[in-house]
Amino acid sequence: MSLRVGILTGGGDCPGLNAVIRAVVRRATLEEDAEVLGVSNGWRGLIEDDLKPLTRSSVAGILPRGGTILGTSRTNPNDGDDFPERIRATWESHRLDALIVVGGEGTLRAARDMWHEHGLQLVGVPKTIDNDLDGTDFPFGFDTAVNTVMEAVDRLHSTAESHHRIMVIEVMGRNSGWIAAYGGIAGGADVILVPEHPFRISRVCELLRHRERQGSAFSIIVVAEDAHPHPDEDFLDAEAKEQIYRHGRLGGIGLYLAREIERQTDIDTRHASLGYTQRGGSPSAFDRVLATRFGVRAFEMVLERQWGQMAALRCNKVVSVPLDDAVRKIKRLDDEIYRVAEVFFG
Ligand code: F6P
Repeated sequence: MSLRVGILTGGGDCPGLNAVIRAVVRRATLEEDAEVLGVSNGWRGLIEDDLKPLTRSSVAGILPRGGTILGTSRTNPNDGDDFPERIRATWESHRLDALIVVGGEGTLRAARDMWHEHGLQLVGVPKTIDNDLDGTDFPFGFDTAVNTVMEAVDRLHSTAESHHRIMVIEVMGRNSGWIAAYGGIAGGADVILVPEHPFRISRVCELLRHRERQGSAFSIIVVAEDAHPHPDEDFLDAEAKEQIYRHGRLGGIGLYLAREIERQTDIDTRHASLGYTQRGGSPSAFDRVLATRFGVRAFEMVLERQWGQMAALRCNKVVSVPLDDAVRKIKRLDDEIYRVAEVFFG
């Protein structure tokens, strides 16, 4: 009887998703009798019965491609009363034996629920550019995003230097500062602002004035999209806060921070938001290898019937950890990384 395994990619896309899909399909072909079915657009494909067979030719040439050939969505099985029932119906009609769920915190939390509450035999693969998933040293997607930020910071150095300006660069990361810290350190930023450490605008401006007094012709600030001013020095009014932090759609702190810096320092200041460029492009070598390792491991976890577990990187070994551990809380920026970044402020 053929082993029929579904795979879905859910949540925000990122480079490396296709490497996982390819690895799962290629690992499956080593089995006597196994089939892989691609689920379109995350959990929505199981709700809408939108699956298609994946073969070796389906995944030929997709390793270097960003995004996901399956498509993705932020649809959550918990969002509809009849969604679990429809998912179960699709599962039965395609005679699925197992599901591999590739996603971030939201997608994997849903996977945890679908296993615990509805008995779906599934395993998870950690995906996110944010690196905020607990339980794994790194997900795939983060390294590529950091390289994108680093390259942008390098580019913006030249224009800031030519115009003797302060350049504020806003990056993603949802509620954590991993992308800002790694991208800022790699790009040589002069100040890095992260959600884990609310910033005092007076200190930021003093660092920038100090640089100017030292003869620096420019400064680069990397700010995470969910970074907040310290409550004692909150320069954002209610309208600004609504614009920047409205639920589920972060963005805009870079603009308001640049305006406040220019007002307080009288130094020419501009801002740039890297936005969705951090989610695009071809995966880095690190992410291609990690995603491939996760995909192979996930298929083998299916063979081992390790339901409710997630492939994870621990001390450069790929292991399996309970989904419960992965989604219990988000992984905040490590203090050691932030202390290293602070050495270079100003
Ligand atoms: O989780 C990845 C991410 O890019 C976050 O960094 C960002 O805050 C969010 O997704 C954007 O969500 P959406 O793609 O739904 O606009």
